[in-house]
Amino acid sequence: MAMPQAKPDLTYESYLRLPELLSLQTLQSNPPAHDELQFIIVHQSYELWFRLLLYEVRTIIGHLRAGRVRQAIWLIRRLIEIERVMIQQVQVLETMSPVHFLEFRDLLRPASGLQSLQFRELEFLSGLRDERFFEVFAGSEASRQRLQTAYDGPNLWSAFCELLHSRGFATDTVEQQERAVEHIYTDPRYLDLHQLCEVMVEYDEQFCIWRSRHALMAERMVGAKPGTGDAYTGKLVGRASFQAPGVRYLQGRVSVRFFPILWGVRTQLGGGPYDT
Ligand code: HEM
Repeated sequence: MAMPQAKPDLTYESYLRLPELLSLQTLQSNPPAHDELQFIIVHQSYELWFRLLLYEVRTIIGHLRAGRVRQAIWLIRRLIEIERVMIQQVQVLETMSPVHFLEFRDLLRPASGLQSLQFRELEFLSGLRDERFFEVFAGSEASRQRLQTAYDGPNLWSAFCELLHSRGFATDTVEQQERAVEHIYTDPRYLDLHQLCEVMVEYDEQFCIWRSRHALMAERMVGAKPGTGDAYTGKLVGRASFQAPGVRYLQGRVSVRFFPILWGVRTQLGGGPYDT
């Protein structure tokens, strides 16, 4: 295979498009509130991590559908490490006191993390597809379309079920999926699938830790005040899982899971030898 030609004038700055990247932090406060720059940079960093997570999740879906279990496990490990960084990053925000946040918080209304398209795509592509969130993106046809694509296409769970099907398991119903997973956990011939299930659970678990960490941080910052996105959560309140705006909404989201069947199997498992 021919190696691509190196460009002699390529520099660190031009490769990473640094002038553009570093010109994208526009403060709303004027005169500038000291902590707003870190607030923007932390959020932008998350969106970059979301971008990479989405890229890898799409690749993993392809691996699973093609039966490439080891390649899928390899990349799920990367997802998990990115999540650990995301969880750690919350602490940077927590170096901000609530009074420093209040210097610019009201200028951000009605913008909210709830409007993160990449975050919602990530949930949908991970198998957690909640059509109520389409409402949040009703103002942008392009965003709504992207979310629809994530909703309609294969996701991590459907790709995992396709993989199990290709290995001889029936996966059409939830009961069949539960039985297949229980079989995988108890029959050492399926060690590769067993390992896959465990890294998937870890991916899910780290996401839950982020949700919980973010909810705690939000409580530390704003207590029981309505969130900046209360225009959205307000509309969603009263429907099943949406309890109330702000932090209570976030607390209600901590219990959601990408792969509930992988969590449920732990209740079903009994004792006995497991020889590999
Ligand atoms: C001072 C910092 C932060 C506070 C006080 C805060 C607060 C909140 C609140 C109250 C909500 C619920 C919706 C609303 O009422 O607006 C929310 C949602 C959300 N926030 Fe934050 N947030 C902060 C930082 C971040 C950061 C750094 C991210 C990273 C991307 C983020 C991502 C999200 C996401 C994705 C949601 C939707 C969660 C879901 O629907 O499950 N937030 N945030």
